[in-house]
Amino acid sequence: MGYLTTDKKKITTKTFAEMKAAGEKIAQMTAYDFTTAGILDAAGIDSILVGDSASNVMAGNEDTLPITVDQMIYHARAVARACKHALVVCDMPFGSYQASREEGIRNAIRIVKETGVDAVKMEGGQEIADTVRGIVQAGVPVVGHLGLTPQSIHVFGGYGLRAKEEAEAAKLLADAKALDEAGVFAITLEKVPASLAAEVTRCVRAVTIGIGAGNATDGQVLVYADALGMTKGFKPKFLRHFADVNRCMTEGVEEYVRTVKDSSFPGVEESY
Ligand code: KIV
Repeated sequence: MGYLTTDKKKITTKTFAEMKAAGEKIAQMTAYDFTTAGILDAAGIDSILVGDSASNVMAGNEDTLPITVDQMIYHARAVARACKHALVVCDMPFGSYQASREEGIRNAIRIVKETGVDAVKMEGGQEIADTVRGIVQAGVPVVGHLGLTPQSIHVFGGYGLRAKEEAEAAKLLADAKALDEAGVFAITLEKVPASLAAEVTRCVRAVTIGIGAGNATDGQVLVYADALGMTKGFKPKFLRHFADVNRCMTEGVEEYVRTVKDSSFPGVEESY
C-alpha cells in the first residue's frame, strides 16, 4: 500500500512544499494499474495521479463522466500497491462530491481508506471550497483542479484553452486563493495561459502542477499514455512525446504473431 512511513524516500505533501520552496520542479504522470505505476515509480517520478482520465484511457469512454467511485478505487489500489516512492493522488470522480459536503467527505475518506493513496483531487473553485475544507479537516490531503476541468465538459462545450478573457482569469485567481485558504496542498492548472499560471503560482502557498499551462508552475503532469506515445493521433500543442511506445508495442506484437504463425515460437529452449 502507499503508507511506507519507514521509507525515507517516500514523497509526502511536506516534500511537495519543500520542493516548491527550493524551486525544485515536481514531475507527475498518471497511471491506472500496478505494472505501469511500478515502472513510473522505479523511474523516479515524484507523483502519480490516478486520474479519472482512466475513463478515457482504460475504458475507452468519450469523457471522464461515467467512471465511478468503485472503479477509481480499483485503479487507485493497484497503483498505491506499486509505489514505494511517489506520492499517489486519486481523482474523486464526477458525482462523488458535488451534491453535498458530507457526501464529499465520506467519499474522500472511503477512497483513502480502501486504496492507500496519499491524497485526493477535486475539480472546482469557490463552489467546492467548503467541501475541500471539510475533507482536509477530516485528515485527507486535497489537490484542487482549475482551468479546463473535464468533469464540466458539457458546460464548457469543448476542450479549448480556458481563462483567456480577463473576467475568467480573475475568477480563476480568486478560485485558486479560495482553494489555498481551504487547505489544498496542490492545485492542478489545466490548459490556461502561461502568464496566468505563473501569477497563480506566485499568489498561492500550494504547489501548482500544470498541464498545458506553461513552464512557470511548480510541476508538470501528463497522461502517461499520451506522454509515452501510445495514443495515436492525439497531439495537442502542450503535449510532448517522450517515447514511441505505440510503435514499440506494435513491432513486438507483429513479431509475436509472425513467430507463432511460422512455429518458431516457442522454441526448444522455451519448452518444458
Ligand atoms: O484525470 C486526469 O488525468 C487529470 C489530468 C489531466 C490532470 O486530471
